Amino acid sequence: MLKQLKILVIVLFVAAAGFFYRTVLIQHGVHILRVLISKGVLPMSDKDYHQILRLGNVTSRTISPSHVLQQGDGVLFVETTDRMEEPALVLCSIESAARAYPDRPVVFFMKGLDDVVTEDDEEKARQRFPTLSPYKNVYFFPLRLQELFTDTPFLAWYKKIDPSREIHWTHVKSDACRFAMIWKYGGIYMDTDVISIRPIPEDNFLAAQSDTITSSAVFGLSRRHPLSWEFMENFVENYRGHVWGHQGPGVFTRVVYKYCGRLRFTSVDHLKCANVSYFHNERFYPIAYPSWRKYFEVWKDLPTFSNSYALHLWNYMNKERKFMMVGSNALLEHLYQQYCPRTYGSLVQNVTAHH
Ligand SMILES: *[C@@H]1O[C@H](CO)[C@@H](O)[C@H](O)[C@H]1NC(C)=O
Ligand SMILES: *[C@@H]1O[C@H](CO)[C@@H](O)[C@H](O)[C@H]1NC(C)=O
Repeated sequence: MLKQLKILVIVLFVAAAGFFYRTVLIQHGVHILRVLISKGVLPMSDKDYHQILRLGNVTSRTISPSHVLQQGDGVLFVETTDRMEEPALVLCSIESAARAYPDRPVVFFMKGLDDVVTEDDEEKARQRFPTLSPYKNVYFFPLRLQELFTDTPFLAWYKKIDPSREIHWTHVKSDACRFAMIWKYGGIYMDTDVISIRPIPEDNFLAAQSDTITSSAVFGLSRRHPLSWEFMENFVENYRGHVWGHQGPGVFTRVVYKYCGRLRFTSVDHLKCANVSYFHNERFYPIAYPSWRKYFEVWKDLPTFSNSYALHLWNYMNKERKFMMVGSNALLEHLYQQYCPRTYGSLVQNVTAHH
């Protein structure tokens, strides 16, 4: 009732303004409404919002994740903190996906981004990331948790949780987001420390991270796939926020075990589990986590990773805060040069600028 009343007031306001002052005032009114909505003062669905923009005769065309991702073939990334200055690895991860999937939308959902509803807004968001903006298949949208979790098993859980008491909240949030995003939009989800090197040949897949653990860093499922729903239920039913990985790889591993027991590979070819492909660890984890430092070392012969589709960089293990050093000749430098050349170019420029 309250919502309808609000919408009525808004519509009347816009209409009255239009009657007296036509476009200029309407556009000001719409602008004020947009600010109020983006600050959460006026909660509103995408549909109502777009209706208001149409009333306001906003010239730039509207854009939304559901439109960009309507084919269900997106590659999805998420930033659950408010940071907007992304580390080079994140930029590299997204750039490499944009290159590996030139015909698919690559969407970065960022909590710190407000309000992308028109193509102009999208263009402004792009300009914040000069190394990514030349890739026309990269899109930025704000991450709105409550909206994302609506109509999923997460909403009730999210409403009763107290983030100040959660020790892994950033990661737990990000775990939940990936399931809800894949449920609603379909496509491939990737962590921002995954470098894509060639396209993944399957649409519906899960991947082994080791002999016993299923990865949460890369998976693909079509929109509204029953497994996504099962993952969300498993997450909520078994929720133990203080246990690291319990909401991420734990969910995948539990569900895979339920359907398929302990899967054993006899080659790098994928297996089938719960009607989706189950990839060998070589596909994304050719360097296993105890060896994560190898990415930062100089190799005599560079590995070809011919059995891999993407490389998981184990950023969480990287407590020493190692990063790619220009001129180090480390394996990672070669990967940047080859798979995210614009990010690499920017890092080179930054180094030169400081010397
Ligand atoms: C290079 O430096 C600029 C300015 O500090 C920064 O915005 C940009 O992100 C840096 N490039 C990379 C790839 O980190
Ligand atoms: C796999 O597909 C079959 C046939 O469509 C279906 O009966 C079964 O429930 C599916 N299994 C899972 C785990 O979704």
